[in-house]
Amino acid sequence: MCGIVGYIGPEDAAPILHKALLRLEYRGYDSAGVATLSNGRLYVKKDQGKIEEIHKRLNLDDLPGNVGIGHTRWATHGAPSKINAHPHTDCTETIAVVHNGVIENFIELRRELLDLDHSLISKTDTEIIAHLVEESIKRGAEPETAFLDAISRLRGSYAVAMIIASNPDAIYVARNEAPLAIGVGEGFNLVSSDANAFLEYTQKAVFLHNGEAAIIRRDGYRIIKLGTRSEVSRSPTLIPWAVSMSRKGEYEHYMLKEIYEQPNALRNVLHLQQIYVDLLAELIDRGRDIFLLGAGTSYNACMAGSYIFSKIARTSTYPVIASEFIDNYGSSISADTVILAVSQSGETADVLNALEYARLRAATILGITNTVGSTLTRISRAYIVQNSGPEIGVAATKTFTSQVLVLAQLALRLARLKGKLAQYEMDELYETLHSIPSIAEKVVNSTDGKMREIAENLMNSSSFFFLGRGISYSTALEARLKVMELSYIPSIAYPAGESKHGPISVIEKSYPVFFIVPRDESRKQNIGNIMEMKARGARIISVASEDDDEVRELSDYFVGMPDINPLLSPIIYAIPFQFLAYHLAVLKGYDPDKPRNLAKSVTVL
Ligand code: F6R
Repeated sequence: MCGIVGYIGPEDAAPILHKALLRLEYRGYDSAGVATLSNGRLYVKKDQGKIEEIHKRLNLDDLPGNVGIGHTRWATHGAPSKINAHPHTDCTETIAVVHNGVIENFIELRRELLDLDHSLISKTDTEIIAHLVEESIKRGAEPETAFLDAISRLRGSYAVAMIIASNPDAIYVARNEAPLAIGVGEGFNLVSSDANAFLEYTQKAVFLHNGEAAIIRRDGYRIIKLGTRSEVSRSPTLIPWAVSMSRKGEYEHYMLKEIYEQPNALRNVLHLQQIYVDLLAELIDRGRDIFLLGAGTSYNACMAGSYIFSKIARTSTYPVIASEFIDNYGSSISADTVILAVSQSGETADVLNALEYARLRAATILGITNTVGSTLTRISRAYIVQNSGPEIGVAATKTFTSQVLVLAQLALRLARLKGKLAQYEMDELYETLHSIPSIAEKVVNSTDGKMREIAENLMNSSSFFFLGRGISYSTALEARLKVMELSYIPSIAYPAGESKHGPISVIEKSYPVFFIVPRDESRKQNIGNIMEMKARGARIISVASEDDDEVRELSDYFVGMPDINPLLSPIIYAIPFQFLAYHLAVLKGYDPDKPRNLAKSVTVL
């Protein structure tokens, strides 16, 4: 949800900023811009569109100076346009600001600035920051004090970076509820919304906390608490990801690369640090009410997780959509509540908002995330980093399957702790868990072509239905989300048994209905639902056990899946639907890595 970046060092800043912005484009891509400083002057280039389109028009590499900031935008205040694109400047055009987040009191601050005769030309909340700094400087403040004073007046969420022509030796940054990391180099420093953007230059990162600012120079950085203005010392964390992990390589899109990376990502998840798995299991065991909390795909992983916890650990957990949590369960939270939050980015505002509410009511907060140093890792009492490597495609793929595998391991640990399973059952489940990466490998290699063929046949459909029972309902939800967000084809997902209580009325001749039918205890009922749909003329596409001839015969298209313990089936059965979504998008001429109106990390409520 907007990406910001900054560089200060001996090199030309603009090409470095441009490259870093491309790595942040998954955070927003409706407009972009860069500002640099040289010889006491501020240079700005910005426009509407994706970064490479803008670069073709304006040459983003061609700005002078060794210090600069950049931005790629996902609109919140003001439509995508050149004027609303960042960086924003003040009246003197010597101060430039980029921002990710939402400033809640911007109307009041804007009014105040207009009364002081500032000319505000955009519709954004960001522009006011440049003018607030300008105003303080006019009243005699030094740039650092002016920046800290301006930031202290903001309410809401922000990661901000600023440069000012009168002091070209510094980048001024601040954060509150939006991520910001300093990349620490030898004789240079960078700053970015995501450490992934600067990995090419340094793997050392310092993560700012809420309510902190930093002054970044070529040879160091100072972190300052906004409240007390006191300095904080913090040493860098080493980011374990290799640069090559965030490149597309031979794949046409990041999403395709990330789908194919799943067997390895799943292998990584089998090497979690066991002390943390134990700790999370122990803390879950102490809870009276246990919630699994997430948004979007991560919520779908929570839904799968709740079935797994119930079946393996005989423990009831409530999967909850993060943005609904406070309204639905807020009044019942107590010290006996445990919330296990699942978030790839660890920065989703809906998740953090719910957790902050629960934390203040003494709930135990636990986390599963893919992002070292994310806010989720800081507010969780204990957390697991799933180590899936960077996921650049906006649609979650490898991180979903890995999240489910983490949850399965946690459930198994909890079962052992509670003595819920016999030794032979534990052994069998461990064996199944360890066979998942090679099964995933088989599925990745065998379903790509088949799903492309299905996509070719169904790409002109006006809507899809996805049905599954039990844990396969979570697979249906995830299949629906992937297909809908990438192909823009409205889709419905339902528990198969519930479909006859209303949704079946949409079925007419040739309507495509996907069934998810692993070999589990609900298979017979699923077959009943397939018959009901067929009787009304639906086209049946089944993703089912490869030896299930009965389902094969009932289906217009049949996608055979290897044998798997049904409890872990979402990990494997989600894969063909990722391919389906990918191919539908490509066939329809859409960019699967950057679906319209979306951003990977949603840092606004
Ligand atoms: C869908 C997708 C989103 C995210 C959601 C939560 O493919 O990627 O639905 O799953 O925005 O993001 P995280 O997991 O970062 O909290």
